[in-house]
Amino acid sequence: MTTVHEPFPTAEWWRTAVIYQVYPRSFADADGDGIGDLAGITARLDHLAALGVDAVWLSPFYRSPQRDAGYDVADYRDVDPLFGTLADADALLARAHELGLRVVVDLVPNHTSSEHVWFQAALAAAPGSPERARYLFRDGRGENGELPPNNWTSVFGGQAWTRVDPSTGSGASDGQWYLHLFDSSQPDLDWTNPEVRAELEDVLRFWLRRGVDGFRVDVAHGLVKADGLPDWGGQVAMVDGSTDPGAPEDGSTPATESGPMFDQDGVHEIYRSWRRVLDEFDGAVDGERYSRALVAEAWVEPLSRLARYVRDDEMQQAFNFSFLTSRWDAAEYRAVITESLRSLDAVGAPATWVLSNHDVVRHASRFGLAVPGSRPNGLFATDPQPDEALGLRRARAATLFMLALPGSAYLYQGEELGLPEHTTLPDDVREDPAYFRTEHAEAGRDGCRVPIPWAAGEPGFGFSPTGKTWLPQPAGWAAYAADAQAGVPGSTLELYRAALTQRRRRALGAGGLEWLPGFTDDVVAFRTFRTDAGGVVVLANLGAGAVALPADARVLLASAELPGGGTLPADVTVWLEG
Ligand code: NOJ
Repeated sequence: MTTVHEPFPTAEWWRTAVIYQVYPRSFADADGDGIGDLAGITARLDHLAALGVDAVWLSPFYRSPQRDAGYDVADYRDVDPLFGTLADADALLARAHELGLRVVVDLVPNHTSSEHVWFQAALAAAPGSPERARYLFRDGRGENGELPPNNWTSVFGGQAWTRVDPSTGSGASDGQWYLHLFDSSQPDLDWTNPEVRAELEDVLRFWLRRGVDGFRVDVAHGLVKADGLPDWGGQVAMVDGSTDPGAPEDGSTPATESGPMFDQDGVHEIYRSWRRVLDEFDGAVDGERYSRALVAEAWVEPLSRLARYVRDDEMQQAFNFSFLTSRWDAAEYRAVITESLRSLDAVGAPATWVLSNHDVVRHASRFGLAVPGSRPNGLFATDPQPDEALGLRRARAATLFMLALPGSAYLYQGEELGLPEHTTLPDDVREDPAYFRTEHAEAGRDGCRVPIPWAAGEPGFGFSPTGKTWLPQPAGWAAYAADAQAGVPGSTLELYRAALTQRRRRALGAGGLEWLPGFTDDVVAFRTFRTDAGGVVVLANLGAGAVALPADARVLLASAELPGGGTLPADVTVWLEG
């Protein structure tokens, strides 16, 4: 037996929390326009409390032209009318807290919307002005400044620079360029500017005063760019991470994995100051003392680099995309789990685990692809289609071993229903800017953002009182609807509920972890334990054939029906009393 992580008894909620991601436009619609809203979320919070999660993370609901589904913020201190009002946000927070759920909101500090007053003022002002200095405006290269200032590309495709000229309607005719790592409607802020820092700290305080319990920090690795914005030969990407052609061939860790736009040392000072802001609010709600949490969305590898974001005086958590991007392979999972626990233990931070979110193909479909776990940026109807039944079987197995792991886990709305990706969306309904900026080479992320089916027999599966849905739902989703699964033994929803109940009862999030010997390489086999209580043995069979269960196995939970005869079939996870 090899112990890789000791139990960590603790009272801080974020060390062990299961956090459920709500994507507001697709969770539940109260006003009938076919786009989800805050009132819809509030009305469905009971579902989340009954599921057994500890916290909810809301993707952005701020005022926004919605060019990147709200990750293009025009006003950080207001709710977009699409989603409701500030009063609706307050009501959501109050109801969540009543149900014992913490609320984490999304903060988008790398860029604003081009409709933000700051950017509009920048366009109206002259080069070199304080208004331009909040963003990354530069003169172009070439004789007449007609070439972009450097060769960076946008994560969504195309170049990362746009030139201001009268044709943008901005009135600016000086021909400078501005940087946008994402869409041209998402200009990057200049984080060397103290005014930018002060403003975003004030935004943090605005939401902390309203009672939020934390922030998920968008593109946390991108805020600071290398001095001089040097050219770079790599290709930035979100789903696959960046590729650096200059990485050493001997396999040693390069100083910078991700190019001059990501993971620069300067980001850490920003998070230290944010941590101080959060600490001001300890005890602010009902005199309760618990720290609010910051979680980094940082596509940074290796894990030892990611761990720098969660050092003692920085953020509390960082998403573990190394786990999310693992292929369906037991050795790969063992390696990433060990490395995650070791790297994060080294800085005293909890590990986190995540399989799906609003940016990747849902894991129920990824695991049903010909290369299980491969990660295309969306799927077209003309692409080879995932095997739905196999993908779901593996997804349930993956979730079950994830939920036993020590630390904190993230769930993405609909995965508790076993939802697959919508892989046959008509192209004319797509909205993801990545689809357009790659000139339709990539399908993009719409397929994982389809409105949730709540009621099998209702129009739009109960997503909206009018039956409208901003993206069409596949007809086959009736079988996945929440009301078709609630109370049904063996359903995915009941599997999640049972796993979350056991996880909480046995405080697995605070457990230690040891690898168990004696199983074939295809089995992920570990025991999670506490010093004051018994443990749980977790066996996940990722191989092609059945394996024998230990003779005295007492099965607590299984991700699929077991055939009897003491075997664990392929693509099934069990929790055993241990
Ligand atoms: C990461 C978010 O998760 C994604 O949805 C968004 O498009 C980019 N950051 C840009 O904000």
